[in-house]
Amino acid sequence: RRIVVLISGSGSNLQALIDALNTPALPNAEIVLVVSNRKAAYGLTRAAQATPPIPTAYLALATYVKQNPGKTREDYDAEVAKIVLRAKPDIVVLAGWMHILSETFLELLDGRKVVEDTPVLKPIPVINLHPALPGQFDGASAIERAYEAFTKGEITHSGAMVHRVVKDVDRGEPLVVREVAFVAGESLEAYETKLHNVEHEIIVEATKKVLEEL
Ligand code: GRF
Repeated sequence: RRIVVLISGSGSNLQALIDALNTPALPNAEIVLVVSNRKAAYGLTRAAQATPPIPTAYLALATYVKQNPGKTREDYDAEVAKIVLRAKPDIVVLAGWMHILSETFLELLDGRKVVEDTPVLKPIPVINLHPALPGQFDGASAIERAYEAFTKGEITHSGAMVHRVVKDVDRGEPLVVREVAFVAGESLEAYETKLHNVEHEIIVEATKKVLEEL
């Protein structure tokens, strides 16, 4: 099975996927491409240093728009989709991908729209990792917002989930959900470490689950 991973940052979740390849946690799979929207994303280095090295692509929105005057964010998303489709993925995993994808991207991945050289014969699942529970803290800075709510006594726990990507941000069907309890007095960093460890588990579980359903 062919996995494409989209990243924007350190890529610790990408690393979790790399480390799980060809183990019972994620059998019969290979990561065929890593795409980043940021050149400085350390995840690109992780891909290059994997054994065997994983091909990478990088395309920043600002650069794309500057180099293609008149092109829009949707055009950028379509370009990212074309790069992804050329790798012939069975699944696309958004692992810390910090760019809201327009419906254009999803339409190209599920075959509702077709680009010239990459026909999509059946919908390609796109899944996303989000560091909060379903419907709890959608959107950016979810970890900080959950921690803030905890310090105000509004919640006792948060968590992380992997869900199917739909056009509404972080609102797709949850695939794997894991709760993480706060500990009174713990720092944001301590909570964040607990949360990232959970993310590294559920990103692999969710990917395996979807691949097994194909
Ligand atoms: C993770 O917390 C993810 O949930 C959030 O950004 C972080 C990505 O971390 N969207 P990494 O790049 O996988 O280390």
